[in-house]
Amino acid sequence: MKKIMIINGPNLNMLGKRKVEFYGQLTLDGLNQLIQKESKQLNFDVEFFQSNHEGAIIDCIHGLKDYDGLIINAGAFTHYSYAIADALEILDIPKIEVHLSNIHARDHFRHESVLAKCCVGQISGFKEDSYILALHALDRNFKK
Ligand code: DQA
Repeated sequence: MKKIMIINGPNLNMLGKRKVEFYGQLTLDGLNQLIQKESKQLNFDVEFFQSNHEGAIIDCIHGLKDYDGLIINAGAFTHYSYAIADALEILDIPKIEVHLSNIHARDHFRHESVLAKCCVGQISGFKEDSYILALHALDRNFKK
């Protein structure tokens, strides 16, 4: 069984109260339940971590060396946290960057991800399905 971590960054604990057209209707609990269900199908042992604090996210990443994969939505940190990028660079497991909204179709400052080059790939714009697609991307990556 593959052990994977889902990290959600700042303001993602406010899902359900954020703009539905970008982030969908689900709360973070609802999203995690959906991820849990799909993970079971894929035979993944999944854990969840959410923080609004950059350092806490970095500490979490540092603790993942015995995990098989990581899915990360770093929220706004995506666009400027070189510290999270450095932590991802150290972690030698498959990492997938996800976004609920299509960051390339939004404000200019959201177009850049400083994390993307540390990840296998980026999935952006499919609301909660971004995470489901990322689970399948990890699964296919494991089977290579
Ligand atoms: C986000 C996109 C970011 O630009 C934004 O700051 C978020 C959420 C997304 O999932 O679409 O908080 O990462």
